[in-house]
Amino acid sequence: MEYSEKVMEHFARPHNVGKIEDADGVGEVGNAKCGDIMKMYIKVDDGIITDVKFNTYGCASAIATSSMATDMIKGKPVSEALKLTNQAVVEALDGLPAVKIHCSVLAEEAIKAAVKDYYDKNGIEYDPALFKEDSCHYEHHHAQ
Ligand code: FES
Repeated sequence: MEYSEKVMEHFARPHNVGKIEDADGVGEVGNAKCGDIMKMYIKVDDGIITDVKFNTYGCASAIATSSMATDMIKGKPVSEALKLTNQAVVEALDGLPAVKIHCSVLAEEAIKAAVKDYYDKNGIEYDPALFKEDSCHYEHHHAQ
């Protein structure tokens, strides 16, 4: 099994690891395939994700994808973070071994869960279809 250089870099020195005490949204998801857990914290200011941190008991691929995914959504509008797919993160990492693709879904789902938590806490209305279980396959158009 071969990991790309970028995966190795992000695994060795993951970005945005930790916890945000006064987070505006927290999402926790588990990977049904391996039982690993991911927790994601976001700080939102005026619709922009100003800070994001994660903690995981996941494997190297889960850590590398979360590191990359959090880099990709930091400073972006919440609506854009919701559109981040695990495929985009895997591409940004120059690929993952096929058997490890399921690990990359953890980051995407944790980001969505954190955003949903933020929406719920702030009474922001959203289309529930955005947060369907099979979120990696949805094809809705977001009109923000
Ligand atoms: Fe569990 Fe990768 S093996 S997240």
